[in-house]
Amino acid sequence: MKVLVVGSAGREHALAWKIAQSPKVDEVIGAPGNAGMTRIGRCFPGVSGTDCDAVVALAREEEVDLVVVGPEDPLAAGVSDRLREAGFAVFGVSQAAAQLESSKSFAKDFMQRHGIPTAAYATFDDAAAASAYVKAQGVACVVKADGLAAGKGVAMCETPADAEAAIAEMMNDRRFGDAGDRIVIEEWMQGEEASYYAITDGENVVTLATSQDHKRALDGDRGENTGGMGAYSPAPVLTEACEKRVLEEIVHPAIRGMREEGNRYQGVLYVGLMIDAEGVPRVVEFNVRFGDPETQALLVRMQGDLVPLLEGAAHGRLDASTALAWGDAAVCVVMASGGYPRAYESGKAIRGVEDAEDDHVVVFHAGTKLAGDGFETAGGRVLGVTARGSDVREARDRAYAAVSKIHFEGAFSRSDIASRALDR
Ligand code: AMP
Ligand code: GLY
Repeated sequence: MKVLVVGSAGREHALAWKIAQSPKVDEVIGAPGNAGMTRIGRCFPGVSGTDCDAVVALAREEEVDLVVVGPEDPLAAGVSDRLREAGFAVFGVSQAAAQLESSKSFAKDFMQRHGIPTAAYATFDDAAAASAYVKAQGVACVVKADGLAAGKGVAMCETPADAEAAIAEMMNDRRFGDAGDRIVIEEWMQGEEASYYAITDGENVVTLATSQDHKRALDGDRGENTGGMGAYSPAPVLTEACEKRVLEEIVHPAIRGMREEGNRYQGVLYVGLMIDAEGVPRVVEFNVRFGDPETQALLVRMQGDLVPLLEGAAHGRLDASTALAWGDAAVCVVMASGGYPRAYESGKAIRGVEDAEDDHVVVFHAGTKLAGDGFETAGGRVLGVTARGSDVREARDRAYAAVSKIHFEGAFSRSDIASRALDR
């Protein structure tokens, strides 16, 4: 079969890499794809995932058997609906279901309707009312732009004054455009975060291994929030007992709730969790796609074939008894351009990727482009250096040994990825 992967980040390179290993798959193509994905199959850099007409036209032209949509923007733009109308099998949720990620107020109201544990919240369309609310509450809180803001529309506010500043930035200065015209103000939850993934056809569910990412730019979880500076799997904070609660109290009610509301959920549900000191899980956020860079670590760890799961979800016949086998551990360390997540320079030659890869290490591309015989930087997060090992420590050591072999001007990575698993 022929599979089209939509997207251009490290996550899509990892998906294409894993899908290409399936005995069922003859060819993988990417739209727009990235420089690393061109080593796996043809890419169509002119086809943006949010251009639904262009994606449908490409799927027709190439007569693909399955489309796998990586990022949230094409899902929120309705690319899955358009592809399904055109008769294609799609791993990716509908535009209506994508609201779980594209609207924080939709997600919070949905959780409330279905009794899914999450932070207390209030929604505002008016800056003055929001400011009055945070003043009256008088405690630390989290202010979020309602719409998609590439993971940056969240302000952690220690004081009401911080919260008022965040409200003004979102609603008056419109830092995130329309995405901040409505905001959600949440209780600041304490605990440790983890990521959990469920693949579903809307009814049957197969869950993946546990993982955790590192969102802040700097060591010790300092600095600004980023898309994610690294990830590891498994995440020991998600104990077996906690995982059971996540399934019973969050995953199943969410998938059932979406179905009952007429938004059958076909794709992957990403549950961002906060787990408190007693091991009680609550939802920080739902995403409607795989995490980046958690996916890089998960897929390097996953043994066996991913494609039957993707197909099962796409065709509405997922086998819930599918037993997945996992290698012991994997760690992904992101190498970023100096300055990220703020302004950074591009066009820096990248050296050493081939030396860095071996039986245990895969280097996934994100912000790179082909330049002559090699690659140069072309984005904030440049590479996801991913290693497996017999435990998290070995995987971490291998990933950092590989990072030390790769060079580009201004490169930076965190030096403490996976420390939360190792310092317990
Ligand atoms: P989000 O985009 O909603 O996932 O938020 C980004 C990050 O902000 C999360 O990964 C958490 O680290 C943090 N965060 C968001 N909401 C909360 C909350 N209610 N309590 C504590 N931390 C939060
Ligand atoms: N790693 C966080 C995300 O994909 O949203």
